[in-house]
Amino acid sequence: MRVISWSCECCLYLTPSAVLVLTLSKLVVCPASGSLERRPEWKDFILMADSKPLFSLDGDPVAAEALLRDVFGIVVDEVIRKGTSASEKVCEWKEPEELKRLLDLELRSQGEAPEQILARCRAVIRYSVKTCHPHFFNQLFSGLDPHSLAGRVITESLNTSQYTYEIAPVFVLMEEEVLKKLRALVGWSSGDGVFCPGGSISNMYAMNLARYQRYPDCKQRGLRGLPPLALFTSKECHYSIKKGAAFLGLGTDSVWIVKTDERGKMMPEDLERQISLAEAEGSVPFLVSATSGTTVLGAFDPLEAIADVCQRHGLWLHVDAAWGGSVLLSQTHRHLLDGIQRADSVAWNPHKLLAAGLQCSALLLRDTSNLLRRCHGSQASYLFQQDKFYDVALDTGDKVVQCGRRVDCLKLWLMWKAQGGQGLERRVDRAFALAWYLVEELKKREGFELVIEPEFVNVCFWFVPPSLRGKQENPDYSERLAKVAPVLKERMVKEGSMMIGYQPHGTRGNFFRMVVANPALTRADMDFLLNELERLGQDL
Ligand SMILES: Cc1ncc(COP(=O)(O)O)c(C=O)c1O
Repeated sequence: MRVISWSCECCLYLTPSAVLVLTLSKLVVCPASGSLERRPEWKDFILMADSKPLFSLDGDPVAAEALLRDVFGIVVDEVIRKGTSASEKVCEWKEPEELKRLLDLELRSQGEAPEQILARCRAVIRYSVKTCHPHFFNQLFSGLDPHSLAGRVITESLNTSQYTYEIAPVFVLMEEEVLKKLRALVGWSSGDGVFCPGGSISNMYAMNLARYQRYPDCKQRGLRGLPPLALFTSKECHYSIKKGAAFLGLGTDSVWIVKTDERGKMMPEDLERQISLAEAEGSVPFLVSATSGTTVLGAFDPLEAIADVCQRHGLWLHVDAAWGGSVLLSQTHRHLLDGIQRADSVAWNPHKLLAAGLQCSALLLRDTSNLLRRCHGSQASYLFQQDKFYDVALDTGDKVVQCGRRVDCLKLWLMWKAQGGQGLERRVDRAFALAWYLVEELKKREGFELVIEPEFVNVCFWFVPPSLRGKQENPDYSERLAKVAPVLKERMVKEGSMMIGYQPHGTRGNFFRMVVANPALTRADMDFLLNELERLGQDL
């Protein structure tokens, strides 16, 4: 017999040679059953190490390879081929209780056979939303770039951490090269940076660095040695700015909200006013976070004018270009970010408009004084030994607050190698062109109303159903219009025909925010969106 396991309820199955071990082992009262049980000793476990695993592929490379080939086959068929096909569903909606039942989520003590595991993989894919589908317009990321996916598969398979040259030689060098390229597009010939787990974290890093640069003591003394600090951002900023302020102990009250104009852009005159107000209240301004590509309206803050204000007041300028940063690749549209080279830090998510895959977010810094490492370093002697046989400056892990860190550079590097900067530029330009096509088509139709003329690839609009057309003067018009988007959203998700986000915004009731980001989109997909909304809302 083989050793399987030991628990309160069942005893060990032992090989004949282990009988002796059994006689030597201790008897204990089992807390669950109250009966006298035998507690296994080291020797039992050593026997267990000799045993063959049950239903496990450990130690069976042929079976492991067969399983992975099958899984990759399923992924290619179900995610890559069907998941990107306009004739398939975007999602297969199930109520949570039914979904739980279909997935059979419970984890049990017995393992399952490979066929069952493959069926489970199929079910996971079947009931997951296909974000690579051409009718998934719900988020600021969508689509599937095959080279980037190849990079992600390699990254996952190699399963290393980005912290030392010792265990990630390729990725340490590659990360620096990719960051250098992104910095060059910002307009910097030198600097620093790091890939972060998302734009929210990149923004948070920028806040921490700005605070540390002003008050280096705070690394050791924390909040004790600090005056009340103030940071400034616009009404349209991403919510991660407030979250970051809370997380870093600054508090959300330290975030001063600057007014925006009718297009959603920060007003530099109001920024000046807010700085004076904060100072008058006894706060110390230290950072301005401008946004290049706001989340809902897609607005670009006027960076030159904001940089002038920062310069006058000696403030750190951070640009949250998580969404709009990729526009820097386009010679035609990069003027939207004019002045970005004057920033101290930039957050840029290639996983959004460039479809590099989640997640891929760079924090870029103008600093050349090793600020990142000084601010976050902790010199763990078991990881960052200073007497290594190679240049320890290549152990970049001490720049960040994480220990283990995912490799996020390969997917972008591989995609860039395949597309070239020109290919990526074409993608960005095409996204703009399709967004404008959509706007023109939308204007031709009776049931659509633009929220604002877009300057980016966010197209915000209301669908006005037949019963509300021509009723703009009615007192309850806005209230009734705001109820349309949630109803249509439910219908499209339950049919699985498409997904598009909606939100209220300031005094405006719910409207749709169309995001033209997937590089595979065509005019036909824009037409589909409009036709589908008309179809779904014809009875409203
Ligand atoms: C302007 C802006 N900044 C930051 C973020 C946060 O990025 P992430 O989702 O990678 O944390 C977003 C996300 O949509 C965003 O739109």
